Amino acid sequence: MSGFVIAVDGPAASGKGTVAQGLATLYGLPYLDTGLLYRAVGVSAQRQAGGVGEASATAAAQALDPALLDDPELRTRAAGELASQAAVFTGVRAALLRFQRDFAAQGSGAVLDGRDIGTIIAPEAPAKLFVTASPEVRAERRWKQLSGQGESVALADILADIRLRDERDSGRAAAPLVKADDAVLLDTSVLSIEQAADAARRIVETARANWAKA
Ligand code: DC
Repeated sequence: MSGFVIAVDGPAASGKGTVAQGLATLYGLPYLDTGLLYRAVGVSAQRQAGGVGEASATAAAQALDPALLDDPELRTRAAGELASQAAVFTGVRAALLRFQRDFAAQGSGAVLDGRDIGTIIAPEAPAKLFVTASPEVRAERRWKQLSGQGESVALADILADIRLRDERDSGRAAAPLVKADDAVLLDTSVLSIEQAADAARRIVETARANWAKA
């Protein structure tokens, strides 16, 4: 039996990163934020070619420097937008696939969060969560996060960004954001961080009990 894999998907600022990190700590599993890979591709295409096009983004994904993953610029609003643009290209997704699959396949098990973990990267994962929240709640969370990082931006602009990214991430042909049939939906709109973490833990405990029996 391979390791226990937890797949956490959902739209921007749904709380999936917090939920996934909490689960990784709880179960002592390695954690991969796959959004960072796409952010690194977008930022590196921007730096090297002045923008995100199919050729520049695919080249950036094929030559991705892991050191870039620690760059704080990846956490900015602009990087999120560049990532979403880069993520529509099949060449970009293909270049990042092996790394993510290898991460999921390590013997210890793993937690990955993103948009296509339960559908494409780790379709056999025994635990799958689809974390969501209303666009308004997500916009407010992202606004607080960016303000905390010193980025000054209007809440209305963040809400518009979120809607645009939802549309692009869900509407693209390549690995669109969609809930896997066997993923459990976790709506965090009215939940505190602790409540969301607790709900996620209960979902995973059920999945783990079934996995241990199989
Ligand atoms: O989770 P995030 O906001 O850091 O992701 C940034 C963008 O990267 C997101 O808008 C779409 C893309 N992405 C993706 O297409 N597939 C993933 N597994 C993770 C992120």
